[in-house]
Amino acid sequence: MNEIRNTATNLMDKNLGRNPVSETYGQPVQDPSGATMKAVVFDGSKSVKIQQVPKPTITHPKDVIIKTTACTICSGSDSHMFSGEIPGIDKGAVLGHESCGIVAERGPEVKDLFVGDRVVIAFDIACGSCSFCKRREFVACDTTNDSKIMDVNYGAHHSAIFGYTKQLGDVPGCQAEYIRVPFADVNCYKLPEDIPDIKGLYMSDVLCTSLHACELGNVKEGNTVAIWGMGPIGLFAGRWAQLIGAKRVIGIESVPERIKIASSRFGFEVINRNEVKDVPKKILSMIPNGPDVAIDATGFRFTTSMLQKVERAVGLETDSSDVLLECFQSVRKYGNVSIIADYVGTSNQFPIGHIMMKHLTVRSGQCPCQNYFDRVLEALRSGKINPEWMITHKVKFDELPDAYGKLFYKKDGYLKVFCEL
Ligand SMILES: NC(=O)c1ccc[n+]([C@@H]2O[C@H](COP(=O)([O-])OP(=O)(O)OC[C@H]3O[C@@H](n4cnc5c(N)ncnc54)[C@H](O)[C@@H]3O)[C@@H](O)[C@H]2O)c1
Ligand SMILES: [Zn+2]
Ligand SMILES: [Zn+2]
Repeated sequence: MNEIRNTATNLMDKNLGRNPVSETYGQPVQDPSGATMKAVVFDGSKSVKIQQVPKPTITHPKDVIIKTTACTICSGSDSHMFSGEIPGIDKGAVLGHESCGIVAERGPEVKDLFVGDRVVIAFDIACGSCSFCKRREFVACDTTNDSKIMDVNYGAHHSAIFGYTKQLGDVPGCQAEYIRVPFADVNCYKLPEDIPDIKGLYMSDVLCTSLHACELGNVKEGNTVAIWGMGPIGLFAGRWAQLIGAKRVIGIESVPERIKIASSRFGFEVINRNEVKDVPKKILSMIPNGPDVAIDATGFRFTTSMLQKVERAVGLETDSSDVLLECFQSVRKYGNVSIIADYVGTSNQFPIGHIMMKHLTVRSGQCPCQNYFDRVLEALRSGKINPEWMITHKVKFDELPDAYGKLFYKKDGYLKVFCEL
């Protein structure tokens, strides 16, 4: 078992992880001057560190080089990387996919960006012109990630993502002083003057992804919405649901600081899973037919049952289906389930019968940020969405490795950091 991880590892061992296309887009290429820069790098399971790495240079005519002005850690996805459970990452790989900055260099075929422009960078990397990108399915871009590992594991490949393993393009991450952005016109979004970094930075992932969670769940005015996980994504998914007109938002969480934010800041009804044994039963006592929409904003690593804990521990499965079972149990018949949480492999006891017997619509996927930038900007400008409350800690670049541990272990109230460079 654990077939997906083993296949991935074997392929990488044989150095089949990259083909000539991703050599062009994904390979770190050193600036000709030989200059180096500071970056956060993976240093083995539950360890990251700051290291000097080659400063990137333009390697494709549609690239730009961004001088980073602010970055952050993805509380969920970077924690998955930190856990060491995501295959296909070597020690020394630059991490991070949430940054903003200033265009420092531009390739000769970049049209809309000029040196000095302030931009936020989408975490997903798309080419803008393949058949998937033409349908605005940017996270399925066929060009930016030619990982053979993905083709073997999934039958097709995802777009590249910054700092997210060989499977996802092997593109150096954004927690660095400089970032090379491929297909810059598609993947950079200009920040207007009235949007400071402390707001614009979070368009790179959280603010777009949480809106995507509502889109996947087809949240509509008057809906009841239950959300598992009150991390940055779950909290903002609830906020977007309120803005769409949801009449009730129920959050499920166990971390006390997060429960407090969910109830006191947003007025969500919160189920503390430390106090409630049977979460679906509790939800059904609150909404007898079940909520219209269930959103899973937790992740593949989280287990609640002994069975899933054991199966993961002994390698019988990679991903827990505990939260999905609760979503399926709770949501109303003909309801929608949005899986915004990251899942990567296989799960046993996956409750497929619930989907059929309750006539459920289940949608999942990574967020194509490019589709949401305009809408998020409008919400930021109107003040309907404001990410500043989410920043629990402002950290210096050298403090990022420590913050990784705090976020992973959910210590000291850490929810989101802001790091100015
Ligand atoms: N699809 C995408 O495009 C995309 C983009 C960004 C993040 N993500 C994923 O979304 C998920 C959420 O991201 P985040 O940054 O908010 O992560 P996070 O780790 O900060 O939040 C997850 C929360 O879920 C809670 N949780 C764990 N098990 C639970 C359970 N059984 N019931 C209820 N709550 C539980 C945790 O305590 C935590 O607060 C992660 O899996 C992340 O990787 C997906
Ligand atoms: Zn992220
Ligand atoms: Zn494409």
